Amino acid sequence: MNLEEIINSLKEALQLSPDNVPLKLQLASILLQAKSYEEAATHFQEVLRLSPNHPNAQLGLAESSFYSGKLSTAIVILEQLLEERHESKKVLILYSKVLVAEGALPKAAEVYQQIQEMDPDYFDKDLDRQLKVRQLSDGSLMEEETKDPKSLEKPSINFDDVGGMEQVKAEIELKIIKPLEHPELYKAYGKKIGGGILLYGPPGCGKTHLARATAGQVNAQFMNIGINDILDMYHGNSERKLHEVFEKARSNNPCVLFFDEIDALGASRTDMRKTVGRHLINQFLAELDGVKYSNEGILILGATNAPWHLDPAFRRPGRFDRIIFVAPPDQDSREKILEILLKEKPIENIDYKSIAKKTKKFSGADLQALVDLCIEDKLQASFTTGLPTPIHTKDLLKAVKRLKPSTEEWFSSARNYALYANDSGLYDDILDYLNISK
Ligand SMILES: Nc1ncnc2c1ncn2[C@@H]1O[C@H](COP(=O)(O)OP(=O)(O)O)[C@@H](O)[C@H]1O
Ligand SMILES: [Mg+2]
Repeated sequence: MNLEEIINSLKEALQLSPDNVPLKLQLASILLQAKSYEEAATHFQEVLRLSPNHPNAQLGLAESSFYSGKLSTAIVILEQLLEERHESKKVLILYSKVLVAEGALPKAAEVYQQIQEMDPDYFDKDLDRQLKVRQLSDGSLMEEETKDPKSLEKPSINFDDVGGMEQVKAEIELKIIKPLEHPELYKAYGKKIGGGILLYGPPGCGKTHLARATAGQVNAQFMNIGINDILDMYHGNSERKLHEVFEKARSNNPCVLFFDEIDALGASRTDMRKTVGRHLINQFLAELDGVKYSNEGILILGATNAPWHLDPAFRRPGRFDRIIFVAPPDQDSREKILEILLKEKPIENIDYKSIAKKTKKFSGADLQALVDLCIEDKLQASFTTGLPTPIHTKDLLKAVKRLKPSTEEWFSSARNYALYANDSGLYDDILDYLNISK
């Protein structure tokens, strides 16, 4: 019998028992094989009407939608399947093909890699070529690769490269560096080691910079994990990714494990597609507690611009039990940061004090922008004269006029949380900074 004959006899049989799910499914699958995609889709839909959430029918419908060019339908169905944990190889293969067709190459590469992890012998010539060729030709994939949420680095900076932040440095020293250096003393006094520090404050004020420098300070590896990267991987897979992250840190200790954008794990999310399940939060808490696997030798730091979105369970002892406000740099700190930023640049008699005075409310990142802007101006000027001249105070002061501090916006919303949701004084530091009496 050829395909057409089989199709006809299945259709006849279905006339006798129109609601026979296995029979209908078989007809739909054979129509798919015969490349009658539209008709196959209709039959898969009927199966789903009779037996909602039938995974094979969903997969079949996704496949026929894909081949008839309905990419977004295919994606919606596949993501639903994955969310319901039907992570079969077939589902993933189709998913990666649809992603390629959609142009979502980094994500497609990620899925392709996942299939190969599942089945090391798996190889698809087309997918392999499409994903690798793009990787070389336009670099977009390369960039995504360096953003691999599990990547390790050995930072070359230490506390000397961080201007100001003395109090935060001291806290890190006491809470996480000392225990790493003298575990026996802590044991002798029966003081439990563990728990992390959560840094919060306006963007650009050195949270990530300090975390990286902490790793350099103790000569440890650094893992910089953006929670949003983990969530974006796609639904249902985040728990596994998170566990892998902790495992990688455990097998590379000593290691500073830094979680950025940690508020993304918060309960109140506006973006429904990214709503984090209780599963992931519980898994995160269990990993932090280190009951099943030891976290010895791992220093845990977190950062957020929006601590109020974070589930309070994260603040319990042994988790992020120190919450530190990282304020915009004060006069002294701005001087130090400017010195650091200009350290290896051609400069002459810089009056750091006066520049710091003119840059109130500037974040470290704003100061970095100031230096960049000034250097651009100097470069521009040197094109006409052909001579590079050193940077002077007046060059920097001129550039200051063209910039605005970026920290004010953050304070306008932080102020409200500190005033009206100041959970047992948690945000008193913000009120102090704003000179608001408690
Ligand atoms: N205290 C500081 N000392 C030196 N450089 C700083 C400092 N704070 C910020 N910077 C500079 O600003 C940039 C942005 O800071 P970052 O750590 O990314 O801010 P955050 O993580 O708080 O948003 C850093 O890469 C660094 O160049
Ligand atoms: Mg940061």
